[in-house]
Amino acid sequence: MTPDLAKCFEPTTLNGLTLKNRFIKAGTFEGMTANGIPSDALSRFHQTIAEGGSAMTTIGYCATEADGRLNENMLYMHEGIRESLTSMIDDLHQLGTKVSGQMGHGGGFSKNRDLRRKRPLGPNFGLNSLGIPQGMFFCDGMSIADIKHFTQQYHDAAKFMKSVGFDALEIHFGHGYGLCQFISPKTNKRKDQYGGSLENRMRLPLEVLAAVRSAVGDSFPIIGKISLTEGVRGGLHYDDAIKIGVMLDKAGIDGIVTSGGTSTMNPMIMFRGGNILQPMLKAESSMLMKAMLTLVGPRLFKDYPYHELYFLEHAKRLRDAVSCNMIYVGGASTNKSFELLMKEGFDFIQLGRTLLSDPALPLKAQKDSGYKSSCIHCNECVATIEHPSGIHCPRFFPAA
Ligand SMILES: Cc1cc2nc3c(=O)[nH]c(=O)nc-3n(C[C@H](O)[C@H](O)[C@H](O)COP(=O)(O)O)c2cc1C
Ligand code: SF4
Repeated sequence: MTPDLAKCFEPTTLNGLTLKNRFIKAGTFEGMTANGIPSDALSRFHQTIAEGGSAMTTIGYCATEADGRLNENMLYMHEGIRESLTSMIDDLHQLGTKVSGQMGHGGGFSKNRDLRRKRPLGPNFGLNSLGIPQGMFFCDGMSIADIKHFTQQYHDAAKFMKSVGFDALEIHFGHGYGLCQFISPKTNKRKDQYGGSLENRMRLPLEVLAAVRSAVGDSFPIIGKISLTEGVRGGLHYDDAIKIGVMLDKAGIDGIVTSGGTSTMNPMIMFRGGNILQPMLKAESSMLMKAMLTLVGPRLFKDYPYHELYFLEHAKRLRDAVSCNMIYVGGASTNKSFELLMKEGFDFIQLGRTLLSDPALPLKAQKDSGYKSSCIHCNECVATIEHPSGIHCPRFFPAA
C-alpha cells in the first residue's frame, strides 16, 4: 500500500473530532422516517454503515423545522424525537462511528402540505416545481421577519442536534434547497440586502453559519455542502463556487463538501451515470406524476455519463483557494481514486452510492489494495428515495 493510500485508513481530526479514517458516508436521504420520526430501520441502516468501517455516517436531510421538510415523511428537529435520536446515535457510537447530521431546509421547493403558511417560502414568489403534482404550484417570498425566523430555526436545530449527540453538522448550501435558492441568481430575485450581488445573496447563508456556530461553539465541527455548479443557464457556475467557498472559509467553516447540480433544475450533475428518468417512472405510483415526468423528465434529467472523480478538476480549484478541510464527493469508487484524492490534498472522502451497494467498503478497501467498488452507477437507488422501506440498492439488495 502506498503512503497516500495508507493515509485513507489512518485516524485524523476535524476541528478536534477524531475520525478513525478518511471515509464519511455522504448524506443520502434515507427515508425510514414516517411522519418525521426516526425508525428502527433507519438505525439499522446506519449501523450497517458503521459496521462496514466508515469513520462517520451522515443522517441525510435533517430538516431544521417542520416547514423545512420536502414532504411530511422527512425527519425534522424537534423535542418529540430526542429519545429516539439519542438512542440511535449512542448505538452508532458503540460501533465506533461518529455521526454527522445534514441540516436542510427546502425553502420554496416542497410538497409538504403540513405548513404553517399556505405556501412554502423561498427568496421570492416563484414556481414550486416539486409541489406542482400536489396542486402547490407556487412559493412565496420571505419577509425580513421570516428570514430571522429561518435563521433562528437553524440555531435551535443545531443546539438540539448537539444535545442529542451528533458529532458534527453539515449545512446544506447546495442542490437547489433553501439556502442555495438564496445563493443562486437564478432563483434569488430579491431587491433588498438579501438579493443582487453575490455578497448580498450570501448574506443569509453566512448568517445561518454564524447562528449554527453560536449554537454549537467554536470547537464543534461544522461542514458545508455546496454545488460547484448548478448546471443551468443564469445559475451558479464553477467560478462562483470558488468565491462562495472562500466566503464560507473566511466565516469559519471547518470543511467544504464539493457537490454539484440542483434537485430542482439539473439533478443528474450530482450523481452521474445511468439516467434516472426510467427508474423514476417505474417507481412512480401517481398517474399525474408519471405524466408530468414523461413531459418534463427529458429536459430535467440530462445525460451525464459516469467517470471516476467527476468533480475533481473543479474541487481542486477550490482546494487551492481555501484553508479549511476539503471533503471530496462524487464518483470516488476505487482505491486508485482514494489514493489520488489523498495525494491531491483532500482531507476526507464522502461516499454515497458505493456505500449503498457495499456498506463494508472501507474494511474491504483496507484489505485489498486493488479494491474497486461493485457499484455500476446505474442510479436505480435514486428512484427508491420515496420507497416505503427507504432507500436501498436494488441491484445488490433487491429484496429490501
Ligand atoms: C439515493 C440517494 C439519495 C441522496 N440524498 C441526498 C441528500 O439527502 N442530501 C445530499 O446532499 N445529497 C444526497 N445525495 C447525493 C450524495 O450525497 C452524493 O453527493 C452523490 O451520490 C455523489 O456521490 P457518490 O458518487 O459517492 O454517490 C443522494 C444520493 C443518492 C444516491
Ligand atoms: S442501485 Fe446500486 S449499483 Fe446502482 S448506482 Fe445505486 S448503489 Fe450503485
